[in-house]
Amino acid sequence: MTHISKPDLNSALAERYSDAPDTGIVAEPLLQLMASRGSCRTFEATPVPDHLLQMLCAIALASPTKSDLQQRDIIVMKSPGVRSELAKLVSGQAWVAQAPTLLVFCGNNRRQRLLHTWHDVPFANDHMDAVINPTADAAIALGAFVTAAEAMGLGCCPISAVRNEAQAVSDLLGLPDHVFPFAGLALGYPSEAPEIAKRLPLSVTCHMDRYQEDGLRDAVKNYDADRAKVQPYATQRFVEFFGQAEAYGWSDDKVRQYSQSERADFGAYLRKQGFCVD
Ligand SMILES: Cc1cc2nc3c(=O)[nH]c(=O)nc-3n(C[C@H](O)[C@H](O)[C@H](O)COP(=O)(O)O)c2cc1C
Repeated sequence: MTHISKPDLNSALAERYSDAPDTGIVAEPLLQLMASRGSCRTFEATPVPDHLLQMLCAIALASPTKSDLQQRDIIVMKSPGVRSELAKLVSGQAWVAQAPTLLVFCGNNRRQRLLHTWHDVPFANDHMDAVINPTADAAIALGAFVTAAEAMGLGCCPISAVRNEAQAVSDLLGLPDHVFPFAGLALGYPSEAPEIAKRLPLSVTCHMDRYQEDGLRDAVKNYDADRAKVQPYATQRFVEFFGQAEAYGWSDDKVRQYSQSERADFGAYLRKQGFCVD
């Protein structure tokens, strides 16, 4: 298995943030792993053992859940056929097909509604909460799974692209009404060390007492320049519309990304799954 060494906590934070805190805290080893983590899209062929997968699912589902409602499920793609069908649906991301294991984290508001049927008590929350709470639950479980998997030497990358073809993914996985895919997760043993992706400075994303945007534009400008210098993008998006930029930073990439509509039909899909998204 490829040996991947990780920088110490303060070095990892300094690599990540231009204004990283150096608190002098002697942290738990897990924090060092979390500080130096990165998404992994290249894997060794070694399969992830079933018992490890089960343990990771158990850890992920031990994470907090809104009101103990437990409105998230994990679907582990066991059969190679289903896995390759899912990879095909995630178009434009060829690396997904190479992942030894694929999972889908789903929001599940169905169980709650079944409880109401079984208890013969009306469900009085058929509104956005029925989507947001399961989404949050699924996202929290996904985050916990990623942390646990990376702590066990695995690499992973979430795949929101499973929502690009939400209906086809639902059909493939047999998702009933009020269950929806939140994100896929590619999982396996990494074949190379993931990059520590730079983040916006904490002065922009971490607020004290009140939200504020002082210095935001300059901070983004500096972050763009920093990323372009240290972690330049391998390719620029939509060169056919925007041309090849000389300086191409994070904000250029994000603006180009969201200049095109993505998943505009997801609301219609949720309605078809029985949700009221007003
Ligand atoms: C909900 C969610 C969905 C994501 N979907 C994709 C995806 O479809 N394809 C992909 O390559 N990366 C995906 N990612 C990974 C992000 O691109 C990645 O986290 C981000 O670029 C920051 O990099 P890092 O995780 O290495 O720090 C997703 C991440 C999250 C949290």
